[in-house]
Amino acid sequence: MSALEKLGLAALHRIDPETGHGLALKALKAGLGPKGSPVTSARLATRVAGLDLPNPVGLAAGFDKNAVALDALAQTGFGFVEVGAATPRPQEGNPRPRLWRLTQDRAAINRFGFNNEGMETIAGRLARRPAGIIGLNLGANKDSEDRAADFAAVLTRCAAHLDFATVNVSSPNTEKLRDLQGRAALSALLAGVMAANAALPRPLPVFLKIAPDLSEAEIEDVARVAEEARVSAIVATNTTLSRDGLTDSSVTTWAASRASRCSRDRRGCWHVCPLSPICR
Ligand SMILES: Cc1cc2nc3c(=O)[nH]c(=O)nc-3n(C[C@H](O)[C@H](O)[C@H](O)COP(=O)(O)O)c2cc1C
Repeated sequence: MSALEKLGLAALHRIDPETGHGLALKALKAGLGPKGSPVTSARLATRVAGLDLPNPVGLAAGFDKNAVALDALAQTGFGFVEVGAATPRPQEGNPRPRLWRLTQDRAAINRFGFNNEGMETIAGRLARRPAGIIGLNLGANKDSEDRAADFAAVLTRCAAHLDFATVNVSSPNTEKLRDLQGRAALSALLAGVMAANAALPRPLPVFLKIAPDLSEAEIEDVARVAEEARVSAIVATNTTLSRDGLTDSSVTTWAASRASRCSRDRRGCWHVCPLSPICR
């Protein structure tokens, strides 16, 4: 990391994490990000579900939820970019604060809850997308009466501007969303999404993003259902609910004392380094 990058990171770490996240997106839009084309070579080039990726390292969903920085992200070197999650209607997500840094653990806790501007606004931005491999993370509204139908609706609305779509039933921050990973619910949901996909003029590769907290038996069920539905690939994984291995004392104290206010505020999922041993 250059001295300037170190300074920038130190400055970002002094401000509220979600404000820092927003500033990073603004800086990208202002042209302050890296400028180049995706890194590639014969060894890095990767084919997944018919998609030719210049390299296998992509930007996961959640960084650019509203597809506001696509032009800049296309120049950062990633092999693909996944935006979203997008839901049919705009929604605020959970109240702030809802993102915490665990610097010592090189991790973060988030409980955003699918905050996004909704599929109409996001589709408008995707329509002006740059070249490259761009996918959308599909979500459901928190207050939806038919969550399974929400996934199909977002796919149908945005598909013309996408290279792939990901069915996200694994976010821990929307109550009961993970229940859709159960065999019967998942089977019905995927049937709806795949029927919507088949009805498109240009059907897309559809991926299924799963939680890292599934048991072996649940993973087998999910794999069987995904295979039956002819999903193109599994995205492993979303964030975890586990707190194992954390050393940050504020988090371990909070994990130990679930009755505290801090405990309620920081319920959510964490990711980055602590997730690696679970996903391997
Ligand atoms: C702030 C934040 C927001 C996220 N939002 C989404 C989301 O909307 N949809 C989704 O499928 N995953 C979301 N994720 C999960 C990431 O896409 C990724 O799967 C997860 O962070 C694990 O990868 P990592 O260990 O590289 O961070 C989010 C993660 C973070 C930290």
